[in-house]
Amino acid sequence: MPRIFMFDAYGTLFDVHSAIARVGAPLGANRDAISQLWRTKQLEYTWTLTMMDQSAAVNFEVLTERALDFAFARYGVNDAPLRQALLDAYLTLDAFADVAPALADLKAARNGTAIFTNGTQRMVDAAIGAAGLRPLLDHVVTVEAVQRFKPVPAVYDHARAAVGSPAAHEIVFVSSNRWDVAGAASMGFTPVWCNRTGQPPEYPGLDPVVVVQDLSGLGGV
Ligand code: LAC
Repeated sequence: MPRIFMFDAYGTLFDVHSAIARVGAPLGANRDAISQLWRTKQLEYTWTLTMMDQSAAVNFEVLTERALDFAFARYGVNDAPLRQALLDAYLTLDAFADVAPALADLKAARNGTAIFTNGTQRMVDAAIGAAGLRPLLDHVVTVEAVQRFKPVPAVYDHARAAVGSPAAHEIVFVSSNRWDVAGAASMGFTPVWCNRTGQPPEYPGLDPVVVVQDLSGLGGV
């Protein structure tokens, strides 16, 4: 029976480390550490500000800038043109090579396809366009209307409503972020963990129904 396959964007469809891979050479030996810290802080800010009820004042684009500024400061980098080049590159992050074929296969099998992301519409539209994924996606949903970030339950409720309010279990929710998989599991979605980087298990009790290494493994779900 056709279902809706709903994908997280950053880390799952788009490689968040491709910005620094593309234009971060001036960062030298610290480039990987800065890329990791940039991502870690970006996510931390989404969680903490949501918990504090302060998330309405920001969006994912602002938090991405703040996180980069923290990472630069932590490593003593002060380079405004490089900062701008990285933020520009973040708008056109590389899609992982398995993404387009997987989406095409799901659509060929008459499943619905959706993105559900913390990102702003502007950010995710730019990334989708750059990667040529637009024709493969039925829905692109962001948290912007809710003004809170994953994994607060209200944002998954919003995503389910935005794709036509199917029963929660009819949404196959795919994320490389294990905490996001847990969030979807807690809402009754059918969760799939795309464990791209070989992470150990976590969040027991809020488990994926299946773990895949990349999206080419989705066919059997
Ligand atoms: C997103 C973040 C969690 O795309 O990667 O929602």
